[in-house]
Amino acid sequence: MKQSSAIGVFDSGVGGLSVLRELRVALPLESFIYVADSAHIPYGEKSRQYIEARARAIAGFMLQRGVKALVVACNTATAAAVAPLRSAFQVPIIGMEPGVKPAAQLSRSGVVGVLATPGTLASGKFAALLQRHAGAAQVIVQGCPGLVEQIERGDIDGLHTRALVQRYVEPLLERGADTLVLGCTHYPFVAKLIRDAAGPAVKLVETGAAVARELKRRLIAEHLLTAQPAPGVEDFWTSGDPRSVAPVVAMLWTRAVEVRRLPE
Ligand code: DGL
Repeated sequence: MKQSSAIGVFDSGVGGLSVLRELRVALPLESFIYVADSAHIPYGEKSRQYIEARARAIAGFMLQRGVKALVVACNTATAAAVAPLRSAFQVPIIGMEPGVKPAAQLSRSGVVGVLATPGTLASGKFAALLQRHAGAAQVIVQGCPGLVEQIERGDIDGLHTRALVQRYVEPLLERGADTLVLGCTHYPFVAKLIRDAAGPAVKLVETGAAVARELKRRLIAEHLLTAQPAPGVEDFWTSGDPRSVAPVVAMLWTRAVEVRRLPE
């Protein structure tokens, strides 16, 4: 394993770019391979077995390309597959979970709302997270069917997306939530709409920056930080059609990019 190797990052689609941008800030000299599993979106409505098979295939592809660590930039895939990935592959694997712990600490009303995919909310990992970290806070959950698909289309501020966000945020506010957890990596791309729907007093919690800190800590601990002085690069792949995925990646990454098709 070379220190100069890239780090693999994947999500069901473009959502993990919200994590990649935090990784890029925290680790400017590292290079990243990003896989958007666009042909299999949405993970949030697939079975655990299905997601595990996809995660194994993508991790296998990235390991073949020599990555020195993996980031599962998806709450749903972490809940479904991080344990089997860790048993199958030897590199450091960083997963992510909804920020229930910081939200419970931030909340003044004692009511925390979690926006996430149905898959994350139904998982045993999420139940264990609540058990461990909700403390005295009351945690209300809200699945958001359809929202990931809007973001995948690049529609992050249109009328339909705004209406969906409104529909999912309102019930949480009605029940007294003053802190909302963005429990899916796609949702930071509609944070402005969530803020508009929730109002300025409501706090939003994202976990991308915490994932970046954890990855950096692991790379340092395992002597895997790159020694290269030049800025790192990103290499984008998708299982979908690069012609439709690339414009959305470019919009969210705010830079023109080449996106290659993942081998079958
Ligand atoms: N971005 C993913 C997450 O963090 C899931 C999106 C999907 O349902 O495909 O949960």
